[in-house]
Amino acid sequence: MNIKLILIGILIVVLGGFFFFKTNNGGKTMAGVNDNKKVLVAYFSRAGEQYSVGNITEGNTAIIAKMIADKTNGDLFEIKVKNDNYPKGYTELTEYAKTEMSQNARPEIIGKVENFADYDTVFVGYPIWWGDKPMPVYTFLDSYDFKGKTIIPFCTHEGSGYCGEQSMELTGAKVIKGLAIYGHIAQNDRPQADKQVSEWLKGLGF
Ligand SMILES: Cc1cc2nc3c(=O)[nH]c(=O)nc-3n(C[C@H](O)[C@H](O)[C@H](O)COP(=O)(O)O)c2cc1C
Repeated sequence: MNIKLILIGILIVVLGGFFFFKTNNGGKTMAGVNDNKKVLVAYFSRAGEQYSVGNITEGNTAIIAKMIADKTNGDLFEIKVKNDNYPKGYTELTEYAKTEMSQNARPEIIGKVENFADYDTVFVGYPIWWGDKPMPVYTFLDSYDFKGKTIIPFCTHEGSGYCGEQSMELTGAKVIKGLAIYGHIAQNDRPQADKQVSEWLKGLGF
C-alpha cells in the first residue's frame, strides 16, 4: 500500500481520537456549562443566630459560596445591603424578613460587580427565607443584564430543600437546577458539604 495513504490513515485515527477525548473528557464539556468560562459566585448570607446551628461567625451559605469559588476558580461577590438593619437574633430576623417580603422590598446593595459583562456563568447563593429568596437577592438579580448568561443557583435551608429556580428565569438567563444543601451540614460537617458540592459541580462539568 502507498506509504502516503498509510500516513494519512494514521493521522485521521490520531486526530479522531483527540477530538473524541476532548468532547468526552470526564464529562467536562458535556453539560455545556463549563467551557473555560469566567465564573462569578455571588451570595447573600447571615452570621449571628441561625436555626439549628446557634450563633455563627460565618453564614452557612457563605461557606458553600467559598467552596464553589475555590473549585471553579470563580470570583466572589457578597451581596450586602447598604442599611443593614437585619437583627442578629433568629426569631427577630424571621419577623424582619417576613415584613420585608410582604413589602416586596428591594433593599439597596453595597458595591457593584466589576466587569459584570465578562462573566458567562453566575452562581447565585442564598439561604431560603420563608420558602423564597431574601429580598436583597432580588435586588441583585434586578441590577444586572443576565441575557446570554447562565445562572446556577445554590441555597442553604433547614428543610425546604429547593432553591426556587423559576423566578430567576425572568432575568432572561439560562437557569440550571441548583444545589440545595442543609445549613447545619454546611456549618458543622464540612467534609460532607464539600462532597455534595464537588459531586454537583462535577455533574455540571466543572
Ligand atoms: C428569616 C428566615 C427564614 C427562614 N425560612 C426558611 C424556610 O422557609 N425553609 C427552610 O428550610 N429554612 C428556612 N430558614 C433557615 C435558613 O434557610 C438556614 O438556616 C440557612 O442555612 C441560613 O443560611 P445563612 O447562614 O447563609 O444565612 C430560614 C431562616 C431565616 C433566618
